[in-house]
Amino acid sequence: MKKFTTVDDINDLDELILTAKKIKSDPFGNSDLGKNKTLGLLFFNPSLRTRLSTQKAALNLGMDCIVMNLNTEGWSLEFEDGTIMDGNTAEHIKEAAQVISQYCDIVGVRSFPTLTDKEKDEEEQVISAFTKYASVPVISLEGATEHPLQAVADALTIQEYKTKRKPKVVLTWAPHPKALPHAVPNSFVKIMKLSGYELVIAHPKGYELNPEITKGATITNNQDEAFKNADFIYAKNWSSYNDYGKILSKDMDWTVTQEKMELTANAKFLHCLPVRRNMIVSDTVLDGDSSIVIPQANNRTFAAQAVLTKILEDGK
Ligand code: CP
Repeated sequence: MKKFTTVDDINDLDELILTAKKIKSDPFGNSDLGKNKTLGLLFFNPSLRTRLSTQKAALNLGMDCIVMNLNTEGWSLEFEDGTIMDGNTAEHIKEAAQVISQYCDIVGVRSFPTLTDKEKDEEEQVISAFTKYASVPVISLEGATEHPLQAVADALTIQEYKTKRKPKVVLTWAPHPKALPHAVPNSFVKIMKLSGYELVIAHPKGYELNPEITKGATITNNQDEAFKNADFIYAKNWSSYNDYGKILSKDMDWTVTQEKMELTANAKFLHCLPVRRNMIVSDTVLDGDSSIVIPQANNRTFAAQAVLTKILEDGK
């Protein structure tokens, strides 16, 4: 693996999930692989899970890890080529990425979308620029359109909890007070399609995701119908894709409640976290037996460690 910025970078999902499972059963079994190597984690946005789990994954592999909040601690970066830099930006990504590549063997970048400039977001302006100018592999710690490390953890979690070969997995929109990105649902849809599970996406009208990503999946505006016979419920909010970045609804009828979970086939509840209680999901569901959000978050370490392992092995 040369980079990991999208689920499309996965060559063989079964093999990657198997690697993650093996790592989980023996997290320090390959603790020399990253010896004398450095992972740089660069954040333009806040994080709890991605930051700590990726750092832990690196440490488990014997790698050193350096972390920087680029938005608050670094020079303000310029991403446009040919600009006269007489404004607020102090350093061009061309120099920054090349310099960082001299300090790090792998670079992780988190950069959320603007949710106002669809074209720029679709181009993954920040992560694409790092990939272009860095001379070392780049991994996404969540970009404008995808969160592939989260998706690998999600696939691993479903693999661990599924009781049938082809479970019914429902990705449901749920209300949230703020406009949120499409990265988590996009990557989740991609990885569920790769997994070959029965995937149903439920959302109110106007919340259609990128049709290039969702094509082939069943899409409904009826959440109750979607929940029937479901084995897994994955709740997530996202803003409108067509009316880009807008909040069109905060309909609390879409909150995942115990009553809704009772429509399912005793489904497990997933969410990438952080989650807004009693907006996205009720306390009863989140604190109940069906919720597997904590083991799901635990799997972030093994997903990251599997990806780092593939990149380090490829670079040997
Ligand atoms: N799920 C996830 O990416 O969590 P953080 O934003 O806390 O990293």
